[in-house]
Amino acid sequence: LAGRVEMILKLGGSAICDKAKPKTPLPNEIRRLAEEISKAGVKRLILLHGGGSYGHVVADQYKIADGYQGSSQLIGFARTRLAMMELNRTVLESLLDQGVPAVSISPSSFVTTENGRIRQLFLDPIIMALELGAVPLLFGDAVFDTKKGFAIVSADQLAGRLAIDLKADRVIMGVDVDGIMADDHHRTGRQELLKVVSASDMMTASMHIHEPTGVDVTGGFRGKLSEMTPVAQSGIEVLFVNARVPGRIYRALRKEETVGTILTK
Ligand SMILES: Nc1ncnc2c1ncn2[C@@H]1O[C@H](COP(=O)(O)OP(=O)(O)OP(=O)(O)O)[C@@H](O)[C@H]1O
Ligand SMILES: [Mg+2]
Repeated sequence: LAGRVEMILKLGGSAICDKAKPKTPLPNEIRRLAEEISKAGVKRLILLHGGGSYGHVVADQYKIADGYQGSSQLIGFARTRLAMMELNRTVLESLLDQGVPAVSISPSSFVTTENGRIRQLFLDPIIMALELGAVPLLFGDAVFDTKKGFAIVSADQLAGRLAIDLKADRVIMGVDVDGIMADDHHRTGRQELLKVVSASDMMTASMHIHEPTGVDVTGGFRGKLSEMTPVAQSGIEVLFVNARVPGRIYRALRKEETVGTILTK
């Protein structure tokens, strides 16, 4: 599978939504990011986006990440999926408008989990899309789980797994902050950006990780870091970039230098 995919870009829900307000996409940001993706013209690219103010809110309401506890959750499972499809449609339309041949593929239909971790995934459609020059577009989703009935698989987890399975050169995690911060910048106002972080000392006490704005049913920033640790450890470049700042995602896709954090082994 080597060389099947060059880059994996995850557009954080934090970058394309106002996570503090339910169902609030940021259409201007989404449009601009679609433009940057189009302009960068990466050949073998997989795109993903997170739950933003869509999936997280509904999944939290029905406790979908806790697994099946009763039939009243089934509507919630279905509604979580619908919320993600709504956000996905907005992202998809912007990409198509910019001429990016994005093909939306729902994780719930090709991924199953075991206790919330990806157990099986059917990669053929993704590989075949890439071979044709199309851009698979995935998202964090509610999926079926062998132990819990159902679970939430984050776009972070999917990005990590796909990067490793398809041997990506680079994973770009687009968020709404400049990268990995050394401190609780929201509370202290300090903005100390760590330019390089090694996966081995990433979880140390020196780095303060606070709870994200709004609901995040997949572990927020800590979850993101733990998904990216094995990716970096396997030798794949992992970049955290502020997708809210025009040009940064473009530059990261072009492999030009930009502000952000590089996660190393
Ligand atoms: N040490 C840290 N460095 C950088 N960001 C941090 C740190 N600790 C917490 N965060 C928060 O993590 C947030 C990003 O994670 P979050 O899960 O909210 O967004 P996301 O993954 O882009 O959204 P989604 O899950 O919807 O895709 C940032 O908005 C930031 O406030
Ligand atoms: Mg998140």
